[in-house]
Formats: sequence, structure tokens, C-alpha cells
Amino acid sequence: MARLKVTVVGAGNVGGTAAQRLAEKNAYDVVLVDIAPGMPQGKALDMTQAGPVCGFDSRVIGTNSYDETAGSAVAIITSGIPRKPGMSRDELLATNAKIVTGVVRELVKRSPEIILVLVTNPLDAMTYVAHKVSGLPKQRVLGMAGVLDSARFRSFIAEALNVPATDVQAMVLGGHGDTMVPLLKHTTVKGRSITELLPKDKLTALVKRTQDGGAEIVNLLKTGSAFYAPSAAAVDMVEAILKDQKRVLPCAVKCDGEYGIDGLFVGVPAKLGRNGVEGIEQYELSPDEKTALAASAQAVKELCAAVDRLL
Ligand code: NAI
Ligand code: 2OP
Repeated sequence: MARLKVTVVGAGNVGGTAAQRLAEKNAYDVVLVDIAPGMPQGKALDMTQAGPVCGFDSRVIGTNSYDETAGSAVAIITSGIPRKPGMSRDELLATNAKIVTGVVRELVKRSPEIILVLVTNPLDAMTYVAHKVSGLPKQRVLGMAGVLDSARFRSFIAEALNVPATDVQAMVLGGHGDTMVPLLKHTTVKGRSITELLPKDKLTALVKRTQDGGAEIVNLLKTGSAFYAPSAAAVDMVEAILKDQKRVLPCAVKCDGEYGIDGLFVGVPAKLGRNGVEGIEQYELSPDEKTALAASAQAVKELCAAVDRLL
């Protein structure tokens, strides 16, 4: 049976690891694209040679061209520059907007039915760029951030309570930046609210650590940003789509009035299935959360205005 094709653009840390994770699912044909000559080809060959050991026979193609991407069901876009210590995600805007524009045009030309999962930062603005440039319906363009930010929050809570991270449920909304909004009422451990389990000051510290979670890793790595958890989060979204799971995951999707946000891509709970974004779930927010989400949307709006001046 023919396998669905998943393209990963940018074969660096996030893209290379995402391709490896996809190959190990033994369910997709994977195409890895990068501008660096030989690099995606070398990584694809290396991944293919892991197959006999790990027990997969996924086809992994590495390339500097887009011809092999034709007929892709989904593309994960990671191409662009990452942060260096002291840089904000927003400082990447102009460079990455140009890169994402070129990549999206090449992809859509060859795969008109494609669903785009953006990873490149600044994430919410790059998702806006991809939608604008691609001409695709809003259901088929979404960004990865909330799954990662929620996973960070979940792992910090698990450590604080000494429970398995998989028992912790959380939903982090808003833009992928300092203004992200963890929903405390919807953060639970085996159904018990986190506000019953941790004192307020501890919880505040964990929220702050989550908001700074990307920078914490940049400062440790010194030569790039996080990629193990980001690649896992992007692949989780791809699987929710391609397996038509109808899971509700926090993703940057286009809001047209939901949560009082209009015309922007911001992290909200989105139902993912074979058609891409199949709906936005309306969670009840506290007054503080509403205010924080509005502030986060405003920060995204300012970046998108900068994008409009650039493109
Ligand atoms: P990286 O530098 O390891 O890889 C980026 C790759 O993109 C490089 O191999 C580069 O050659 C390639 N590239 C550049 N221009 C290209 C083009 N026009 N066409 C094809 N490939 C091109 O960076 P890394 O760590 O993989 O991060 C990638 C992006 O993802 C960054 O913008 C980073 O900030 C972002 N990111 C976003 C996260 C999120 O939560 N949304 C999490 C982690 C990273
Ligand atoms: C992160 O949160 C850099 O956005 C990336 O790790």
C-alpha cells in the first residue's frame, strides 16, 4: 500500500530529528529538504541505514530540490535561523519570513492539497506568512508551539510533584513567546486541579519557567535552540492529522472571532483531523487568562503588521 508522504523542510536540528521520528513510525514516506548541498541526502541515508536495526523500512529521501515533495500530504517547515543566546524569537522575523515565503511557494506548487505545519520562529508570525503566501484555506495552515509549551509545563509539574509526566494534562495558549498563557484551571494531574496540588508561589514559578523554557535551553546549548521536544511536538501534530485522530491540541491556528481574536494565528485548542484544523474548542477562561490572551494576541498582531510591511 502506498504510504502518505510527509515532507520536512530544513534538515537541521528540528527538521532532522522530526524526519527521524517520522521514519521510526514506519508509516510514512519522508522527504527531507534543505539548501545545504549533500546534507539532507547524507542524513536521509544515515536514517535509512538505521531501519534494519530499529525495525522500520520507511523511505527517507534527502534532497535540495522540491520535485521529490510532489504529492505530500503534510509538510513540517523548520527552515530558517534559530536563536542565539540573548536573541528574542522576534529578531528572526525578517530573515525567516523570506525563507518561509520561498519554501511555501515551492511546496504548494507541487502539492496543492498539502497541510502546512510551521515550526520556524517567530512561530505565530511565520504561520501568518505561510497562510498569506500559500493561498491555502485556513484549515490547512497551522503552527507548532502550544504542544511544546504544554509539554514543558507538564514536565516541570511532573518533576515538582514526582508523578509521571504522562499523568499531567495542560493547555498553554497564546503566542509562542513570553506572553504565552498556561490555563491553570485546565491543568490537571489524574483529573485533580493543579491549584489543589501546588501552592500558588510554586505554580507561579513553574509558569514563569515555562514561559522562559526556550531561552533556558538556548542559554545551556549556546549554539542553537531546543529540538528534541519541538520535533516530537510537530510529529505529534502530524500524526493527529494523518491518523484523523480528532485530538484537541493547542496549535497556532487562524482565529476569526474565537476567543475575541480576529484574523490572527494564535495558539488556541484546535481539533486536528485529516482535513487539518477541524475546529477550535471554546474553553472557559478566567478573567486574568482572558486579559493575558488578549495581550498575547496583541503581541502577535504587532509582528504580523511588521510582516505586512516586509512582504
Ligand atoms: P537549524 O539551524 O538546526 O536548522 C535550520 C535549517 O534550515 C538549516 O539546516 C538550514 O540550512 C535550513 N535552511 C535555511 N534556509 C533554507 C531554505 N531556504 N530552504 C531550505 N532549508 C533552509 O535550526 P533548528 O534548531 O532546526 O530550528 C529551526 C527553526 O525552528 C528556527 O527558526 C527555530 O527558532 C524554530 N524553532 C521553533 C520552535 C517552536 O516551538 N515553534 C521550537 C524550536 C525551534
Ligand atoms: C523554543 O521554544 C526556540 O522556540 C524555540 O525552544
